[in-house]
Amino acid sequence: MKVLSVASECAPLVKTGGLADVAGALPGALDAEGVEMRTLLPGYPVAMAALKSAKTVMEDPDLFGGPARVLAGKAAGLSLYVLDAPHLYDRPGAIYHGADGQDWPDNALRFAALGWTAARIGSAGAGKWRPSVLHVHDWQAALAPLYLRQMPGGDKVGALLTIHNIAFQGLAPAGDLHALRLPESGFTASGYEYWGQISTLKAGIVWADKVSTVSPTYARELMTPEFGMGLDGLLRSRGADFSGILNGVDTDVWNPATDTAIKHPYKTPRGKARAKAALRREFGLPDAPGPLTVLVSRLTQQKGLDMLLEALPVLLHRGGQLALLGSGDPALESAYRELAAREPGVAVHIGYDEAMAHRLIAGGNAILVPSRFEPCGLTQMYGLRYGTLPVVALTGGLADTVIPANPAALGAEAATGLQVYPVTTDALAQALSRLADLFALPEVWARMQKNAMAQDVSWRRSAVDYAALYQEIAHRA
Ligand code: ADP
Ligand code: GLC
Repeated sequence: MKVLSVASECAPLVKTGGLADVAGALPGALDAEGVEMRTLLPGYPVAMAALKSAKTVMEDPDLFGGPARVLAGKAAGLSLYVLDAPHLYDRPGAIYHGADGQDWPDNALRFAALGWTAARIGSAGAGKWRPSVLHVHDWQAALAPLYLRQMPGGDKVGALLTIHNIAFQGLAPAGDLHALRLPESGFTASGYEYWGQISTLKAGIVWADKVSTVSPTYARELMTPEFGMGLDGLLRSRGADFSGILNGVDTDVWNPATDTAIKHPYKTPRGKARAKAALRREFGLPDAPGPLTVLVSRLTQQKGLDMLLEALPVLLHRGGQLALLGSGDPALESAYRELAAREPGVAVHIGYDEAMAHRLIAGGNAILVPSRFEPCGLTQMYGLRYGTLPVVALTGGLADTVIPANPAALGAEAATGLQVYPVTTDALAQALSRLADLFALPEVWARMQKNAMAQDVSWRRSAVDYAALYQEIAHRA
């Protein structure tokens, strides 16, 4: 089984969020299931620089306004196709926006070119390699299935779309239709039209053979008006062709026993004490009797961090602390900076730092993920792995990965964290208070840590599910 995974980011090469972690981990996870996966990535400067002994396997004299070629090679242990198209990707800095923080105005074209090239590799192969399935991720790759169906031979290749976050739909003005090489006949309510605009994500939902999302609970949520962002009816209409497959985490990268980002790796919860002391030193936090909570996140509305600002005093009054690493919305960045300046129990690092994320997750007693919605979420799973108990909103993949500390779960030695429901400031404050209660019961806390560290958060089960989906749609090849 040969599968081409198509994504706009892929760890460890280029990452803005969990999509990159998933794209980076899938090839290794699926290898164990007999799937040979290669990954098509845009030729950002970092991707071009990382590529080793590359060969040109495809050329395109006019890829949406300029010449392009596909290079095949290896980087960071991954088999890559890198789309070298300087007019689209040879830009400094962030991958989706310029130095002014504004999205590049030609983002629709930049990623349509990715989908187009994926479809060409699917329909005609690249070099001697031709996939039976295209696995496309999010709106950036979501036009590939539609393009595929228009190319000779494209009907023989299966297409799976995975939705990592429906809040990003790849909208473009209707006037871009020709520039994006889209058939006019598809600009209807049952095609890729979305409230008078083009939605590339919607095109993927309509044209892919199957659609998945990154947790079973988010799949159910997406079929409701509250979470579906206008696409709930369409997703319901896909019936059994739409499902949720839970993400895993890379258990080699996130392993407290071998983590090179921390000075004193540990195997049991007791070994955590040194990581905690080191974290307090690093963040300038004094000793305190309550739990040291940590947070590693994009600072956006999705993540519920405005609610946390209001709920946090409850934890601080109980002797708890917060160490936060994140970046994003400038208003949230300054609100957290101000909070840290005021409260000795709060320390904040605004920025993006992979190694520091490891030190936080290793050193914290609990990790907070109070998201308003969360398709899957990865940091709560890192927390489980490190005996850092997750406090999560009861939504999406957070609901699927944390077993709440209610009397039944505590009695059955199953509890791994706390859930917040409904997702409000009050409920979050109550959960933080309960967290302090549980932390004051060392035996109960230690048992929960043991339960958490014993959870299987690997890709093993989900890799089996993805491989089965590929089998179902590969009959066309
Ligand atoms: P999302 O993709 O919505 O941002 P996820 O929980 O799926 O949420 O994935 C976020 C990923 O990005 C995790 O691997 C997390 O550790 C990482 N991350 C987020 N913010 C930072 C940061 N400021 N520094 C380092 N890593 C971060
Ligand atoms: C998205 C979601 C996040 C998920 C990640 C990987 O960025 O916001 O919940 O874990 O994709 O699938």
